Amino acid sequence: MAAQTGKLVVVGAGAVGSSAAYAALIRASAREVVLYDIDASKVEAEVLDLAHGTQFTGAASITGGTDVALTAGADVVVITAGAKQKPGQTRLELAGTNARILEGLLPRLLEQSPDAVYVLVTNPCDVLTVIAQRITALPAGRVFASGTVLDTSRLRWLLGEHVGVSRSSVHAYIVGEHGDTEFPLWTCATIGGVPLQDWVDADGSRAFTPESLEALAHEVRTAAYRVIEGKGATNYAIGLSTARIVEAVLGREDAVLPVSTVLSGQYGIDGVALSLPSVVGAGGVRRVLEVPMDDGELARLARSADALRASVQSLGY
Ligand code: LAC
Repeated sequence: MAAQTGKLVVVGAGAVGSSAAYAALIRASAREVVLYDIDASKVEAEVLDLAHGTQFTGAASITGGTDVALTAGADVVVITAGAKQKPGQTRLELAGTNARILEGLLPRLLEQSPDAVYVLVTNPCDVLTVIAQRITALPAGRVFASGTVLDTSRLRWLLGEHVGVSRSSVHAYIVGEHGDTEFPLWTCATIGGVPLQDWVDADGSRAFTPESLEALAHEVRTAAYRVIEGKGATNYAIGLSTARIVEAVLGREDAVLPVSTVLSGQYGIDGVALSLPSVVGAGGVRRVLEVPMDDGELARLARSADALRASVQSLGY
């Protein structure tokens, strides 16, 4: 649902940031889109290229540049600036470099937009969300990460393709780290209201086995590596995922999305940001849902939290 209101600032005019701005224009996610980067020629070229197409998009405007004052008064600030994964590199390996960029960037952005909602896309987004919350001292709901919204979209696409049903009728989540310890919540996954484990194909045969489900989960978990191997980066799907999150905030939707927020006791986890189905609306994340999980899923959630906590602590936070 297009919000068509509010000021969206996208920090970083690289492949992900410019794709997020592009998606937001096409989906009319915001009334005003500003692209900010320290690389003058890059950001000016991206803004021009985007502006040249606005005859074919909604009423939203696109501007941008290298002056941080351009970001003033943002309603949502999406942060995509930082080093990106190289082929075979894990997201957690980017933590040190991108944490330092964030430490320099956030105070300046916060000074311009003290009331904004901050969405971390830069990886490792879960680790950087903990750091961003510490730096800004904002309430957890106002500084969160895109998390596994993208991974969940990948899963829903794969499941829909597997059974020949529209992905919009697939309700399944990837939760935990946006990274190698992420996992699907099979116990609450349904297609058209039918629990996944009960889904049968037209010929009456069971559509999923434990082996086929694990293969699908592996395909989602390794999707980014495969795309990066082929084209050097992922950008379209993360751009669209980001625009969807922005719409839920600016459109005050109270939509359930698996974004990543710093937990405060949910599932017994504290001080770590990871993705769980959450109510996203005015002001950011309004509630983290404690969806039912079996013992195996609870154990995987704890493992994801441990991996993320170790990364945060390795950076001195
Ligand atoms: C991916 C990046 C955004 O999963 O982490 O494509």
